[in-house]
Amino acid sequence: MKELELKSVISVCQMEELTAEERHLVELAIEATNRSYTPYSHFHVGAAVRLANGVEVIGCNQENAAFPAGICAERSALFAAGAQYPDQEVAMLAIAARGTDGELLETPVSPCGTCRQVIIETETRFGREVRILLYGRKHVYVMDGIRQLMPLSFTEF
Ligand code: THU
Repeated sequence: MKELELKSVISVCQMEELTAEERHLVELAIEATNRSYTPYSHFHVGAAVRLANGVEVIGCNQENAAFPAGICAERSALFAAGAQYPDQEVAMLAIAARGTDGELLETPVSPCGTCRQVIIETETRFGREVRILLYGRKHVYVMDGIRQLMPLSFTEF
């Protein structure tokens, strides 16, 4: 039997190691955590997208009494960007979260499976990998393309 070994490359960075654009996007994602609507989980997620034209679009999780009707921060940001700037490639996506104690998470927050699927669709749509920045107080995970988190992905049928 052969084995397929899959490799991910993720940089573990301090904020000071990021470029000014990256740092700014992370700060927007952190700020967006304060806008989340989370009466059920009290888990506040913020996301910020930087488009090829330099425009930045934020999103945050929006919950609902009918749970599946809510949406994650990442999709909120990506769909808002898609609605307002349908022709602009997505260059970067930053994510941050505050736990139920209101504190920013120490270890980087990671996107859920559904959001990973939406990110891969974004990459396929524009033929461009998204640079992903996952914020944690301790360090920031930086990677090129969602395939680092989802190597065997479904993109066509
Ligand atoms: N959430 C996000 O916004 N992004 C993720 O990647 C993980 C989960 C939200 C959904 C829900 O509002 C809350 O966090 C708890 O799951």
